[in-house]
Amino acid sequence: MQTEPSAPLVSMRGVDKIFFGGYANKGIDFDLRRGEIHALIGENGAGKTTLMNILAGIYSPDSGRITVDGREARFRSPRDAIEFGIGMVHQHFMLIPVLAVWENMLLGLRDVGFVLDLRSMVSKIRDMSERYAMPVDPEAYVWALSIGEQQRVEILKMLYRGTNVLILDEPTSVLTPQETRELFAALRKMTDAGHGIVIISHKIDEVMSIADRVTVLRKGERVCSVEARLTAREALAEMMVGRALKRVKKSGGGPPGRAVLSCRGLCARNDRGMASLSGVSFDLREGEILGVAGVAGNAQGELCEVLAGLRALDSGEIILNGQDISGRSAREFIKRGVSYIPVDRRETGLAPNMNLSENIALKRYWRKPAAVWKIFMDWKFISGLTAQLVDAFRIQAPSPGSPARNLSGGNLQKLMLARELSDAPLVILAMHPVWGLDVGAAEFVHERLLEERARGAGIMLVSEDLDELFEMSDRIMVMSGGKIMGIAERPQDVSREEIGMMMAGVPMRAAV
Ligand SMILES: Nc1ncnc2c1ncn2[C@@H]1O[C@H](COP(=O)(O)OP(=O)(O)OP(=O)(O)O)[C@@H](O)[C@H]1O
Ligand SMILES: [Mg+2]
Repeated sequence: MQTEPSAPLVSMRGVDKIFFGGYANKGIDFDLRRGEIHALIGENGAGKTTLMNILAGIYSPDSGRITVDGREARFRSPRDAIEFGIGMVHQHFMLIPVLAVWENMLLGLRDVGFVLDLRSMVSKIRDMSERYAMPVDPEAYVWALSIGEQQRVEILKMLYRGTNVLILDEPTSVLTPQETRELFAALRKMTDAGHGIVIISHKIDEVMSIADRVTVLRKGERVCSVEARLTAREALAEMMVGRALKRVKKSGGGPPGRAVLSCRGLCARNDRGMASLSGVSFDLREGEILGVAGVAGNAQGELCEVLAGLRALDSGEIILNGQDISGRSAREFIKRGVSYIPVDRRETGLAPNMNLSENIALKRYWRKPAAVWKIFMDWKFISGLTAQLVDAFRIQAPSPGSPARNLSGGNLQKLMLARELSDAPLVILAMHPVWGLDVGAAEFVHERLLEERARGAGIMLVSEDLDELFEMSDRIMVMSGGKIMGIAERPQDVSREEIGMMMAGVPMRAAV
């Protein structure tokens, strides 16, 4: 049977998915047209990733139908979905770092043939990367690539397999603004070539700029599917959270407090043993939010790790509350009130196989009141605290005993934030604290950070979102190439262009 030209490329009808007796997806209808970018949005835990995992053959639905190009599709594995031309790039990349780009692309291919024609494979990858303006060296090793490049490899891997439906789960959360623009330009080239693209995102401005249509999910159900150009951004935000959003307002800070954390001449190397932090000195004051601006990979991560006691210093001093604690263990930093919100919540932040209470206990199991006589754990206290935090941060979990890995991306982030912000810390090192959070949850976390600031904590907020930095920070420090390019004492007097220049490595003019 011939399909009509207007028939969707993909059609999902009445899709249900149940986990532990609860609906992650309930009766969802979803269409993807040829040549469109379709954004899928909704609160944390709304069921976005689950729905797309079903389309990509990772989960099978409990009921419902999927047709691709008019053909009934039943997937038992991602391989089956790829046969139908559907490929997904996950939030956490699935590349093997010790292999080259082309080797990663080879993995999982069905018909490699008896003799591998390496040269033609490499040149095919080069052609594709040029056609879609996604520069990658096919012979480079994946470990040596930036996050943005790894993402391009993941996308090219799918295109190489003949995918014409591409699903991207929060692809821009790990990208710099420049990389995001490049990604969007590449996506447009793909839709011009007739591909259909689904993009999951929490950033409404981005959704408005790239999507043709938008589908909103809430609590596992579809709220609506609309044309982006006919819809106001406020309306979308309201459909997502079911209420109007307020704007988080920072009240004027008091006079600058004393320094809670002083860094003098910090030098440290990165994971590859190369010089990274070079001679970083600054003070973090009581009751302030010090924004840290910089393009990803300019040693912001190394700085946080050094300040959390997780990375060795080559030289320099860290003075916390008047005491030199350079060279002490990470536990000592925690004990003295340093909280750390890392980027890779799955690896450094949380233990995926432990349940919620165990994850909450991770940073306290050796101290009062969680520990009794330093050897027994007071589980009653810990579960009480967990219940309180789950409630305050609105963490959605299939059940209190379920392992952290079953939480949605945003709920994992909330769990880590709940733990790190719950102990009245002296210093909070926050890297991209609202990554992966829906607008409502992001607003809540910003409010919580401002409460901690009002309580007197010194907060270092690392972000690539200049709007967030300008809204939240008392001062903005800019890093480039492992050095501080300048600290804007009064961000309201500094332009974005000046911050941008410093991010590009131009030191601040003396006057600011
Ligand atoms: N493998 C799993 N086992 C049990 N429950 C799961 C599993 N995967 C997802 N869930 C649950 O299904 C619900 C929907 O999760 P999903 O990951 O689809 O949300 P999401 O919309 O992608 O949220 P986020 O914006 O936080 O990424 C959540 O309550 C989650 O805990
Ligand atoms: Mg998700």
